[in-house]
Amino acid sequence: MMRIEAKVPEGGRSRYDRSGVRGRIHLPPMPKLHVNVDHIATLRQARREWFPDPIAWALEAEKAGAAGITCHLRKDRRHIQDEDVQRLRKSIATRLNLETSLDREILEIARRVRPHAVCIVPEARNEVTTEGGLDVVTERRRLARAIPALADAGAEVSLFVDADLRQIRAAAALGAMFVELHTGRYANAVGARKRRELARLRTAAVFAHEHGLRVNAGHGLDYLNVGAVAALPRVEELNIGFAIVARALEVGVHRAVGEMVAAARKNSTSRHAGVTR
Ligand code: PXP
Repeated sequence: MMRIEAKVPEGGRSRYDRSGVRGRIHLPPMPKLHVNVDHIATLRQARREWFPDPIAWALEAEKAGAAGITCHLRKDRRHIQDEDVQRLRKSIATRLNLETSLDREILEIARRVRPHAVCIVPEARNEVTTEGGLDVVTERRRLARAIPALADAGAEVSLFVDADLRQIRAAAALGAMFVELHTGRYANAVGARKRRELARLRTAAVFAHEHGLRVNAGHGLDYLNVGAVAALPRVEELNIGFAIVARALEVGVHRAVGEMVAAARKNSTSRHAGVTR
């Protein structure tokens, strides 16, 4: 039987839900867009150059409407470097969301940098991008140490999970503040499967909220598929990188970010209809 060691309030609700009352968190009419700048660094690292600069790019993304900037400091340092994280923390005007694995060294850097938020993600050496959500149940011991350590350093802690109710329940029991729902399966699916994946995300978002968790979403979102995810109940932030960076090559950062904000807004106005606040 699963036993979780972290301090868990009665009822297994996230310890951050201090009000104990569902829906006290103000839900904006649409989720906020957080722009992931990893792939600006991917391009720079391809030639070990100093340009393009993910920090300058992040500042432009903010001017165009990004409510936050996300980056992933990987163990293999394939894109974002330690210095990028420091510079982002000092330079951006909005919020820094740092993605980390459970690697000790990276977690220690996260504690020192003190980003506004940390999203813990799984990481495998040979993956092209983050494949699948974190196995919270299996990793519960390491998470039970990492979550309070990051929270003590001032970070809002999020766990990147699949739309899997068992994983979400475990995230709540461990005291995470947020889950970020992995939207990759939805993004990659077509036809009836796509509708099923969207329904799973909806169920997961409501379930997470009922367990005292706040909800973000991301991975594989683009200009065409973002609207349906933006319209899901309870989702506060969307983390989007690749599609915006790719679009920016054609139209520039400002337009690429602005178009994504508009694409997310399109469907999201009705997203709280029928949802108990
Ligand atoms: N959210 C998380 C947790 C991620 O790991 C990534 C990929 O770095 C994203 C969102 C963004 O995915 P994409 O680049 O496909 O928009």
